[in-house]
Amino acid sequence: MQGIDGAVAALRAGALCVIPTETVYGLAADARNEAAVTRIFSTKGRPADHPLIVHLADSRDIDAWARKIPHYARLLAAAYWPGPLTLILPKHQDVPAIVTGGQDSVGLRVPAHELTRTVIAELGSGIAAPSANRFGKVSPTTAQHVIDDIGELLQSGDAVLDGGPCTIGIESTIVACTGAQPRMLRTGAITSSMIEETTGLDVLAADGTIRASGTLASHYAPAARVHIAEPRAVPTIPGAGLIALREIPIPAGMVRLLEAADDGAYARDLYAALRSADARGLRDVVAVLPTDAGLGSAIRDRLTRAAHSG
Ligand code: TXA
Ligand code: MG
Repeated sequence: MQGIDGAVAALRAGALCVIPTETVYGLAADARNEAAVTRIFSTKGRPADHPLIVHLADSRDIDAWARKIPHYARLLAAAYWPGPLTLILPKHQDVPAIVTGGQDSVGLRVPAHELTRTVIAELGSGIAAPSANRFGKVSPTTAQHVIDDIGELLQSGDAVLDGGPCTIGIESTIVACTGAQPRMLRTGAITSSMIEETTGLDVLAADGTIRASGTLASHYAPAARVHIAEPRAVPTIPGAGLIALREIPIPAGMVRLLEAADDGAYARDLYAALRSADARGLRDVVAVLPTDAGLGSAIRDRLTRAAHSG
C-alpha cells in the first residue's frame, strides 16, 4: 500500500495505480501515457475497443480533454462534479486513441474522493481508469477486493492507494452528451430525473449505437449463479445465499448475505455480498430486486446483468 506521494510517483513513472473513488475502485494510468494505458487492458483482460473513463481533478480541466461541449453538459458538470457521473463528450484531438477505444468521444468524470483528486492534481494530467476487476466480473469496493482479484498481476512499481470502502458502491451514471439531448448509457446514483431537473431536457434511453461494456447483457457476475426475484415471490433454494432489503424475510435454510436498511445501503454493500457468496463457496444466490425508482433501478440493472449467464 502506498500514500499520495507513492501513487503520484508510480503514475509519473508509467506504472499502474489502484485508486479509491466513491463508486468503485479503479485501475489507473496516466491517460497521456499510451504504454501505461495499454497495461490496463492486458491486466484486466479487457478488449481494446472498450473505452476508458478519464478521471480529472477539477471540472475546469474539461476543456483540455473534450471539445464542442454542449451547455447542458456544463450544467451537469457544475451540478454533480465531483461525483458519480460520467459525461461522454466529443474528444479533444490530443486524447490518445488507446484511451477512447478508437472512438471520437471521451468519457470524463471528477471523482468524489479527496485522495484520488489530490493524486490527479499533483500528477497534473488526467488518469484513465476502468473498475479494477477482471473483465466482466464483480467490481471492487475495497482495496482488499482489488488485491484478491488482480493482486498477482500487479508489478513492482505499481501502487495501491487504500481510501477505505467505497461509499456509493456501484459504478457511475454514464450520460452521452454528443447530441442535442442527454442520453442515458448506464444508470447509477445520479438518476434520470435528477438529470432532467438540472438540464430542463428529456433524457433519451440508450439506443445501442453507443457501446459501453457495462451495457453488455452479462456483467458484474460472481461464480455463484444469481437468481433475481421480486419481493412477493422469493424462491426457497436450500443452502443458497439471500441478498435483499432487511424487510424481506429469509426463507428457511438460506444464508443472508446482505441485509440493507435502504437502497443506499443495498448499493453500497451489494458487490461485497456477491463476493462473499463466492468466498463461502455457495452455488446459488437469490437477489431480491428493490422496487423504488432512482438508485433502485440502477441496482436492478446490475443484478439483472449479474444473473445473465453467457
Ligand atoms: O464509477 C465508475 O465509473 C468507475 C470508477 C473507477 O470511476 N469506472 C468504471 O469504469 O466503471 P469501467 O471501465 O468499468 O466502465 C466504464 C464504462 C464502460 O462501459 C465503457 O465502455 C464506457 O464507460 N465508456 C467509456 N468511454 C466511453 C465512450 N467514449 N463512449 C461510450 N462509452 C464509454
Ligand atoms: Mg467495469
